[in-house]
Amino acid sequence: MFACRPSVRLATINPMPRLLLCPPNYFDVVDQKNLYMARDSVVDRVKALSQWETLCNVLQQNGCEVETIDPVEGLEDMVFAANQVFAGEKTGYGKFVVPSRMVYASRHREVPFYAAWFRARDYQVIDLDYGDDYLEGHGDMLWHPDGSRIYGGYGFRSTLGGVEKFSAAMSKMGIPVVPLRLVDPYCYHLDTCLCPLNNDAALIFPGAYSAEAVASLHQFWKRIHLLTADEAHHFMGNGIVINGSYITPYMTSQLQAILQEEGLAPVIVDTSEFEKAGGSCFCMKTFLP
Ligand code: ARG
Repeated sequence: MFACRPSVRLATINPMPRLLLCPPNYFDVVDQKNLYMARDSVVDRVKALSQWETLCNVLQQNGCEVETIDPVEGLEDMVFAANQVFAGEKTGYGKFVVPSRMVYASRHREVPFYAAWFRARDYQVIDLDYGDDYLEGHGDMLWHPDGSRIYGGYGFRSTLGGVEKFSAAMSKMGIPVVPLRLVDPYCYHLDTCLCPLNNDAALIFPGAYSAEAVASLHQFWKRIHLLTADEAHHFMGNGIVINGSYITPYMTSQLQAILQEEGLAPVIVDTSEFEKAGGSCFCMKTFLP
């Protein structure tokens, strides 16, 4: 059906990072869930599939094991595998996922498929009682790389109440959640304006945050590297950090200098079809604990 061959598991000292992706068989732009979708864009499905396969291949070439979930007809955004659950692992608790409550109906219908995928693989499923609140998985909830805390973006998709309910559940495992208010509709998810590069350094686009949120980020990172609005709006902060590489849809000389300082090699993967729906590299996968 799709040409991303299952990864061969190699016996190495460091376990391979594993990622979950969803093939874009039914990917389409049918409504306007974010400002990127406001343009009259027509998706080229053949090109989308080839871009997705390239992303899979690049991940595998960079030492990742790629797993896939079957796409479902009528769920046009299911390819954005970062949103349907928040996945984690905590010593003493094991591997868990928190299913999302997505704002848009078609996206909310994706959640049970992902929850079932994880349940079948023995992840503990922590269902939150969201009430009127929303939480959009790793679109808005991002781990500090060492697992010491989680950053929770809210304002466009996830709500402050959703982040608070999530935070209450995480506090039972001793994991603090730092709420960050988002203010730029082009950065409607936290993963468009915060990219942890390592335990000390992160890329941020400061214009995407309230003043309090920027101040709060500065408490937790030794080195904050600033993206411009143009870089952020071209998803350059939506990269995937993997085994010393930074997978990004575009590059600028200033981003290249930041990556060099942090010891990361840029790898450019064209995601133009998916950008029509407001997503790029980071949005298209979930790291599997
Ligand atoms: N069209 C999708 C939506 O608006 C894009 C999701 C992008 N995902 C992300 N993690 N930023 O919901």
